[in-house]
Amino acid sequence: MSFVVTIDGPAGAGKSTTARAVAARLGFLYVDTGALYRALALKVRQGGISPDDLAAVERCTRETQVALSGSPDGAHVWLDGAEVGDAIRTPEVSELASRLAAQSPVRRRLVEIQRVLAERGPLVAEGRDLGTVVYPDAAVKVFLDADLDARARRRARELEGRGIPVPFDDVRAELARRDERDRGRADSPLLIPEGALVVNTSALSIEAQIEAVLSAVRAHPDFPATERDRGAPGAPRDRGKRGETGEPGTPGGVGADPGPG
Ligand code: DC
Repeated sequence: MSFVVTIDGPAGAGKSTTARAVAARLGFLYVDTGALYRALALKVRQGGISPDDLAAVERCTRETQVALSGSPDGAHVWLDGAEVGDAIRTPEVSELASRLAAQSPVRRRLVEIQRVLAERGPLVAEGRDLGTVVYPDAAVKVFLDADLDARARRRARELEGRGIPVPFDDVRAELARRDERDRGRADSPLLIPEGALVVNTSALSIEAQIEAVLSAVRAHPDFPATERDRGAPGAPRDRGKRGETGEPGTPGGVGADPGPG
C-alpha cells in the first residue's frame, strides 16, 4: 500500500475542500469515496429501485461500473462509462447514498474499489470509514468535525454555487438525518479512528484546515516528499502526471468492471 492520508468526518465538515487542496499541494491522488456511493445512488434512482429492496440493490451494485478519474483540481466521477457531473450532488442523491451506504453488500463492493486505488500511488482519501475500515494502516488519519450550523451553512453555500439552491433549514435537517444514519449504522459507522488527528473546523479558515493536515503529513517519518510539494523550498509548481487518476478504461484509470462478482 502506498502512503495514504485519510480524512473522515460528517458531511459539511470541510473534507472535500481540505482533501483536494492537500492532494493538489502534495501531488497525491485525490479520492472522493462519497462520490462512489453517490454514483451508485444515482443509478438506483434512475432504475426506479427501492432502497428497501435489498436484493435489487445488491444486483444493481454488482452490475454497475463506477470510477473516478482526473486530478484534485479536476476530478471526474463515472457511472457505467458516462460522466455524472453535478447530478450526484442533489439532496435526493445525498439522502439515497446514505441509505445505500448502510447496506453491507454495497459497502463491500465499493471498499474493494477504494483499496485498489491505494496501489496506484500516494493518496488523500475522504469519507466516513477510511481510517477505521478501508485503510486501517493509513500513515496519517484525520477526523474533521464542525458544529451542525457551521456545516449546514457551508453545505448550503456549496449547493448554491453548484446551481442547486436549497433553503438553509432543509440543508440542516438533511445533514442531521444523514449524520445520524452514518454514525448509527451497524457496518462501518462514522467514528473517530484510533490515533486520528481531530480538527474542529467550526471557526477555522480553510487555509488553517489545510495547514493542519499538511503539517501532520509532512511530519510523518515515511512522508514521500515530492517535487510538487509546494511547501518544499524551491519546489516547482508545474502539473505533472503525478496526482492524476487517469481516465477509466486506460491504464491510469480507476474503477470496477461489472464482472461476475
Ligand atoms: O461524503 P459524501 O457526503 O459525498 O457521502 C455521501 C454518503 O455516502 C454519506 O452520507 C455516507 C456515504 N459514505 C460512506 O458511507 N462511506 C464513505 N467512505 C463515504 C461516503
